[in-house]
Amino acid sequence: MHQDIDRKLFSEEAIVEGIDRVAKAVTAHYQGKDFTVISVLKGSCIFASDLIRRIPIPLELGFCATSSYGAGTTSGELRINFLPEESEVVGRSLLLVDDILDTGKTMHALKQEFLKRGAAEVRSCVFLDKPSRRALEFNADFRVFEVEDLFVVGYGLDYAGRYRNLPYVGSLKPEIYAQATATQ
Ligand code: IMP
Ligand code: MG
Repeated sequence: MHQDIDRKLFSEEAIVEGIDRVAKAVTAHYQGKDFTVISVLKGSCIFASDLIRRIPIPLELGFCATSSYGAGTTSGELRINFLPEESEVVGRSLLLVDDILDTGKTMHALKQEFLKRGAAEVRSCVFLDKPSRRALEFNADFRVFEVEDLFVVGYGLDYAGRYRNLPYVGSLKPEIYAQATATQ
């Protein structure tokens, strides 16, 4: 796994520090609210589990899943495959948590869907933000790091389903993604 990484971008130590900072801001915002964290599978599972353990206020945890039919390292048409229970959404203050904000299509579509389903408030928290790739106007309310326009893996982020278990974030050697197909 490590030999496929071109450059290490965020170390395990930097990730812990970054999450601490964001967890404090999230805690301040959601204090006293009916709070549900929605982890967008699969990419955010590691980030969401580290994040919620640093948020010392009551919260519920829900999951949703999307898939996009794009090849390689670009995202295509989005489909929502799985949503949380109604009781975890209706009238509650949601925080959508994803691994990376790229074109913005995933977070935009999910925000609309949860508002339609009766959420009182929907905010977003992303581990990485790649603003140079945005296809529509969408900004994360909370983000840990901004990244340049590189395909990155690790800490939940995959390429073709692999590298999620890498404990740090790195860019993938371009020869690795020359062919194959990426998964969400
Ligand atoms: P968006 O809908 O284009 O914002 O894309 C969001 C999804 O694309 C993320 O949840 C990731 O699964 C995937 N993605 C975008 N950029 C990267 C990357 O650099 N590495 C790994 N996955 C990525
Ligand atoms: Mg993915």
